Amino acid sequence: MNVLVVGGGGREHALCWALRRDAASAFSDDLTLFAAPGNPGTAALATNLPISATAVDEVAAAVAQHDIDVTIIGPEAPLAAGLADRLRDAGRGVFGPSAAAARLESSKAYAKEVMRRAGVPTAASATFVGMGPALEYIGDQAEPLVVKASGLAAGKGAVVCKTREDAVRVAREMLEGSLGEAGKEIVIEEFLDGEELSVLALTDGERVLILPPAQDHKRLGEGDTGPNTGGMGAYCPVGIATEPLFARVRAEVFEPVLREVAAQGTPYEGVLYAGLMIRPDGTPAVLEFNARFGDPETQALLPALLPGFSEHLAAIAQRRWNPVATQQVLSVERAAVTTVLAARGYPDNPEKGVAIRLPDAAELGDDVIVFHAGTYRDNEGRLRTSGGRVLSVTGLGDTVALAAQASRRGAERISFEGKTWRRDIAWREIQRAGAA
Ligand code: AMP
Ligand code: GLY
Repeated sequence: MNVLVVGGGGREHALCWALRRDAASAFSDDLTLFAAPGNPGTAALATNLPISATAVDEVAAAVAQHDIDVTIIGPEAPLAAGLADRLRDAGRGVFGPSAAAARLESSKAYAKEVMRRAGVPTAASATFVGMGPALEYIGDQAEPLVVKASGLAAGKGAVVCKTREDAVRVAREMLEGSLGEAGKEIVIEEFLDGEELSVLALTDGERVLILPPAQDHKRLGEGDTGPNTGGMGAYCPVGIATEPLFARVRAEVFEPVLREVAAQGTPYEGVLYAGLMIRPDGTPAVLEFNARFGDPETQALLPALLPGFSEHLAAIAQRRWNPVATQQVLSVERAAVTTVLAARGYPDNPEKGVAIRLPDAAELGDDVIVFHAGTYRDNEGRLRTSGGRVLSVTGLGDTVALAAQASRRGAERISFEGKTWRRDIAWREIQRAGAA
């Protein structure tokens, strides 16, 4: 089978890793793997094609040239740009939703509308394109409030505002173009208390297979302080994700949303990521949908799973999926904790071009996997930083606490000037285990 992974971050490296592992464990490693554009990490597992993930024409040409059976689309931008539609129209297997279905991520206003129609629990909200009505609405709401750009804003689109004055200021900035087109339409919503949980489900548009949930750490600093980022670390499994919660999330979130988008003629195929707030009374509410795997959740989630996961992706892409009806959730084999190593200056102004010392796998140990994200090789073949989130260091263990130790040990052994990371990934889970 010829498989192409589109994207070049830690998530895509983890997808390549899982594809290789699963192909090997099926005792028939007939997998030919490509990545576009990939990164120095995927280069060890796949043939990197020098094509930007958002260059739809070039990716489509590469799919034809290399006779790709299955394309797995990692990031949101190519989905929103219609890459999945383009490849499906060409008769190719694709894992990833159409541009119309991907609006669940690319338009928060649309996602809210779908949730309202489908009766999905979510924060009370309203959508605005002009300041007058927004002002009036904010005046009537309780503090705090959350102001969100409706469009794709690379993790910068949601601002929690303690006061109405803050909400007015942020709404005005977004509507005046501080986030470009993404903020020309905004959603203002009620602030929800609780613990966040990333629940991802594989779907062919009808059937749903929930993946073991992971918990992201959005804030830059230890103790969940500092600015929001794309995610500084994640772990899996999560203690609050119990069978009764899965049943609720399936019945109250995934099934009604999939029915609603299918009824509109835009069925959703791929992975649907529900960013949930588990409220203090245990009820889930949806903060956002993503039309793709999470980053860094995927770097924790995939190594935690038993081999066999990739076959689901290929089967969905080739429209031959037949999941075991009784299986509600894929099983985890072990715990995994992922620590992100970011560049100095992340998230606003990350330093680039800094040399990285990365010990080899033998030195890191077999309970540590390093996924590349913002790295490149210079003309001498030396590894350097190229972006905000540089590497994801996944530690494995029988418990989350052991996996966290492995992840931190790995993170310490990797060095580059300005390395920025959190030593407390999975702190909630470790606290829970200590209290139990
Ligand atoms: P979003 O892009 O909608 O996922 O928002 C990014 C982050 O902002 C979330 O992961 C939460 O940490 C926070 N957030 C978003 N919406 C809310 C809300 N209604 N209440 C509390 N926090 C929120
Ligand atoms: N880690 C959050 C996301 O992938 O959107």
